[in-house]
Amino acid sequence: MYKEKIAEIKNELKDLFNNVSDMQALENIKTEYMGKNGKITLLNGKIKEVPNEEKKEFGMAVNEIRNEFNEKYEKIKKNLEDAEINQKLASEAIDITLPGTTIKNGAPNILEKIVEEIESVFMSMGYDVVDGPEIEEDHYNFELLNIPKGHPARDAQDTFYVKDEDYLLRSQTSPVQARVMLASGGDKPIRMICPGKTYRRDADDATHSHQFMQIEGLLVDKNVSLSDLKGTFDVVVKKLFGESTKTRFRPSYYQFTEPSVETDISCFVCKGKGCSLCKNTGWITVSGAGIVHPNVLKNCGYDPKVWTGFAFGFGAERLAMLKYGINDIRTFYQTDLREIENFDRRED
Ligand code: DAH
Repeated sequence: MYKEKIAEIKNELKDLFNNVSDMQALENIKTEYMGKNGKITLLNGKIKEVPNEEKKEFGMAVNEIRNEFNEKYEKIKKNLEDAEINQKLASEAIDITLPGTTIKNGAPNILEKIVEEIESVFMSMGYDVVDGPEIEEDHYNFELLNIPKGHPARDAQDTFYVKDEDYLLRSQTSPVQARVMLASGGDKPIRMICPGKTYRRDADDATHSHQFMQIEGLLVDKNVSLSDLKGTFDVVVKKLFGESTKTRFRPSYYQFTEPSVETDISCFVCKGKGCSLCKNTGWITVSGAGIVHPNVLKNCGYDPKVWTGFAFGFGAERLAMLKYGINDIRTFYQTDLREIENFDRRED
């Protein structure tokens, strides 16, 4: 009886093993035959029904079918695993004859770079780098800075007004001076610079851009004089343009400084002899500056009898154009990759 049963199982297995195509199917067969209630497992219990003289033979037959199963199972399992690995390798094969992807060299944004250089020079002298809003109130952009109503700078032809005449796109970073002074409460020294975007209603050309970048600076303390401004300016331009750079101040006029100056550096191309960059003067203007006007100090909560200060404003594009020999301000705002590569080369 048991012999037929074993033969029947063997036949079934032959069929099943021949048709197994994946691991899941193989595992199902294992459960069905060798699991807790598997057909081969259950054969063990049948020994009770086998006459004594046949028990030994029965035991051997059960062992045999079990061994056969295990052998076959391991073999198929290995084949399936190999096939899976081969398939994976085939699908992940790299065609080494394909042309490579060229990755273009990136280059730091030249404007950001100059701003970072300036920031680090000023930070080394204890200045804070602060931020201010680009949509500004008339009050900060003009009023507190001693620029009265009716001043030409307030003209709608020069300034982008956002809402009536109260809100505007800041036309300079100088309003941040007022914000910082007011926030400082009128009783603490201040050292800060503020790099940021500024806007004017200029028609774009090689030297004008309706959006550009300024770096504002303010120092407030006691007994501050023009010579402090000159010393600070000297340190900064020597770091930026080289140790041999000379500086000079020329009288100028700004509403928020008195006296006001234009700050020049000696031309770093001709070393002062005269060339096309400096228009044969030997000097290049790089910022406006001056001693903070008493009205501005007063407007912003600082007693001008006790406190004095200096302020300055660099045009970031102008500095970058000078340093990297760029002759059109629009270069910074047109995303021409060839120009960016040029910037990269200029670094060498
Ligand atoms: N805000 C001025 C401008 O846009 C630049 C400037 C000049 C800033 C003198 C200053 C300063 O802080 O003291 O032309």
